[in-house]
Amino acid sequence: MKEEEIIKDLEKYNQTRLINILNKVDKNTKKEIINEVSEINLKELERLYENIKNTVEVDVGELKPVKSINPDKLTKEEYNEFENAGIDVLKNNKFAVVIMSGGEGTRLGYNGPKGTFKIDVEPRPKYLFEIMADSIQRANKKYGITIPWYIMTSNKNNDEIVNFMEEHNYFGYPKEYIGFFKQGELPLITEDGQLVIDENYKIRKAADGNGSVFKSMRDRGVLEDMKEKGIEWVYIGQIDNVLLKMVDTLLLGVAIKEGSEIATRSVFKDFPRERMGTLCLKNEMVKVIEYSEIPEDMIEAKNENGEMLFGESNITCNLFSLKAIEKISLKDLPYHKAHKKYSYMDENCKMIEPVEPNAYKFEYFIFDSFEFFNQISIVRGKREEDFAPIKNKEGVQSPETAIKLYNDYWKKQKSEMI
Ligand code: UD1
Repeated sequence: MKEEEIIKDLEKYNQTRLINILNKVDKNTKKEIINEVSEINLKELERLYENIKNTVEVDVGELKPVKSINPDKLTKEEYNEFENAGIDVLKNNKFAVVIMSGGEGTRLGYNGPKGTFKIDVEPRPKYLFEIMADSIQRANKKYGITIPWYIMTSNKNNDEIVNFMEEHNYFGYPKEYIGFFKQGELPLITEDGQLVIDENYKIRKAADGNGSVFKSMRDRGVLEDMKEKGIEWVYIGQIDNVLLKMVDTLLLGVAIKEGSEIATRSVFKDFPRERMGTLCLKNEMVKVIEYSEIPEDMIEAKNENGEMLFGESNITCNLFSLKAIEKISLKDLPYHKAHKKYSYMDENCKMIEPVEPNAYKFEYFIFDSFEFFNQISIVRGKREEDFAPIKNKEGVQSPETAIKLYNDYWKKQKSEMI
């Protein structure tokens, strides 16, 4: 597109601040900015701006608790039947895993991709990527297979992750079975719908949330690659759960036996305000209400025994059929917004440090994909076996709590083997 056309487009979408900046900068800077604008879908800005005004309304009266399978309540026969169906998929090389690592990990305050964070577990400290590699390798050994492992990165952290994995020799994982792919980005916009320009005259963008995984898999050729390999089931998990069991044969078997395209592990909240997405049913469809959007009456809701009504929670342990991923990758997921403070350049090319949140970041959430499916299987997990996330610097869901859960889990496994 020519420069004049791009400026016309900027006018059409009311980007007055940027037009003013363009009128003040030198020729080269102008060219660079115009180049960047040409890569942005300005029409999408309108959709983003519309979303600023929308508030998420949750009517608790319409919601019901979900039903989940509690593995402890299955008979030995039932359990084995599920497991065997799962193992069958593995042994036929129809299974792949994706680890999402495109997040910023702001709450942890660690300066680097979370997978490169090292924790002091027993018997020796390990990086999070190493913990993931070890976990898949154990399954590879057990079932005599090599599971294709994909890692989703962001524009910001891709090179660092790729170099880190190479430097560490992929933690012994066969390199030809590892694939990296970048997720998408969305521009930030201010309360009045303007693009945010930084001190280097660049348009500020941010990773577009973990729901980006489906479209990114399509755009980056991962879906095609999986199809060629004959993959039928894909586990998508988060990097920061050190008890993540990607090769979850029970979950796999349950999805197959129940005829679901998606299956998810849950855990029950420890306390009502725990920062976790809440699973529920709306019009009999499984839905997750994120902790940042959950209304007060849903947090407080209790059943007739005085227990938490909506305690079943999302731990981002999701299994999708490849067909489901293909379907979702062609849909538009809704945007979720976060109101934050971002420094920006004003129309006189002066940088402004806001004192209050002034702009919005937009994200797609992985669990919004559930809405396209009538049936989703849920298997209740246990904290001490399935969920030890590292989110915060200290306190709950911190390295300290994750290390303890990890050490306790492995101590128990070893004592059971003796
Ligand atoms: C997430 C869930 C929440 C759940 C909790 C459990 C979402 C939207 N929320 O919250 O419901 O209870 O985990 O621990 O999933 N990521 C990307 N790209 C992005 C953003 C995130 O790859 O643009 C990845 C992160 O690297 C991480 C995972 O997604 O592996 C979860 O992201 P995070 O932002 O940490 O989610 P939470 O707020 O903890």
